[in-house]
Amino acid sequence: MRIVMVGSGYVGLVSGACFADFGHEVVCVDKAADKIEALRNGVIPIFEPGLDQLVESNVKAGRLTFSTELAGPVSEADVVFIAVGTPSRRGDGHADLGYVHAAAAEIAASIKGFTVVVTKSTVPVGTGDEVERIIRETNPDADVAVVSNPEFLREGAAIEDFKRPDRIVVGLSDERARPVMTEVYRPLYLNQSPLLFTSRRTSELIKYAANAFLAMKITFINEVADLCEKVGADVQDVSRGIGLDGRIGAKFLHAGPGYGGSCFPKDTLALAKTAQDHDSPVRLIETTIAINDSRKRAMGRKVIAAVGGDVRGKKVAVFGLTFKPNTDDMRDSPAIAIVQALKDAGAIVSGYDPEGMNNARQMMEIDFATSPYEAARDAHVAVLVTEWNAFRALDLDRLKSLMAAPVLVDLRNVYRAHEVEAHGFAYHSIGKG
Ligand code: UGA
Repeated sequence: MRIVMVGSGYVGLVSGACFADFGHEVVCVDKAADKIEALRNGVIPIFEPGLDQLVESNVKAGRLTFSTELAGPVSEADVVFIAVGTPSRRGDGHADLGYVHAAAAEIAASIKGFTVVVTKSTVPVGTGDEVERIIRETNPDADVAVVSNPEFLREGAAIEDFKRPDRIVVGLSDERARPVMTEVYRPLYLNQSPLLFTSRRTSELIKYAANAFLAMKITFINEVADLCEKVGADVQDVSRGIGLDGRIGAKFLHAGPGYGGSCFPKDTLALAKTAQDHDSPVRLIETTIAINDSRKRAMGRKVIAAVGGDVRGKKVAVFGLTFKPNTDDMRDSPAIAIVQALKDAGAIVSGYDPEGMNNARQMMEIDFATSPYEAARDAHVAVLVTEWNAFRALDLDRLKSLMAAPVLVDLRNVYRAHEVEAHGFAYHSIGKG
């Protein structure tokens, strides 16, 4: 199959490289000339484990190329994926569909022969109808089937998620697209990954419902964690105890500082807005959003409480700045709100992150250290915000010898209290009464 991926961001690049690895001929297109130039030179613009090797081997095999120009590749394509960004629209939180609509118009102008146009970007219900309308209006002769095929990959585990998905969702109304999409996903289909065909609108909603449910699940356990602290229970045991119930499931029950990233915050908000517009509010999700927003800053207060209630003039070391490990993505990271709350209270903040430092520099003004130990020098408290492997086996004696006071706030429950306390630390975690 000849595939064009319009948009070479996280989803576009990972999907494009994986499709090439399946044996398809893929052109990844992006308007950002510097990005395409870098990709042609083997430089990957994001940190994602395994992606550089995957891109390199498929470029070498001649299956994966990069282009700033859309017309040529689209005219020869069997399938064109739209994988451009759908950021939150400033002011109202709706998904901004400007890039999707522009891509649809551009694709329409270049289409030749029957082509399946697939929306992979996360888009509100009804976007497929609008994409189809734009294509028909721009080029009435275009022979297209417009399909929805949301992506469920996680940053940091993107390739594994793409190649071993729990399911592939394809929303279509034109039956001609069914064999084409089955062929696109043939290797996964042969591996027996469930391929779920639905209507286009249903498929669009599945993506939002999945992300909203996961965000709600995390928020649920975060509130239970707070309750655990009050009543003398242990949230990790509660997670295990409820997660073993197959109806609940063990995943996404890790209590922490609140969810962040480029998806959950934006997608929960967009779903709430769509639902309000249709006079069918999703109040559980509205509440999830509110709880998660206030939780991030509350984590700053938790740190302040750990140093006796006053952090003015004291140094705080922050371990981990990205919204999760194995990514350099800082978007909506809990670290942003936590650092701000600490600075507002007069703290001097020093931070370290294995991969996120460059992006963090654009988002916060703190002292950037070259290691967790350097960050901790003379600090009155160290806060573990992101559970990078590099922070899982810290030399606690060394850390203690460097710090002004041995206090560790572990917002990811990476450590066990008795281990840390044995090294002379005051230890604070999440959801342990
Ligand atoms: C999320 C979904 O998990 C993917 O399925 C989806 O494809 C993606 O959004 C998207 O829409 O593109 P991602 O944002 O990369 O993926 O990362 P997650 O692993 O889901 O983590 C999101 C946030 O939740 C992080 O801040 C993480 O620390 C937090 N989290 C996750 C918890 O606090 N507890 C958990 O148990 C799990």
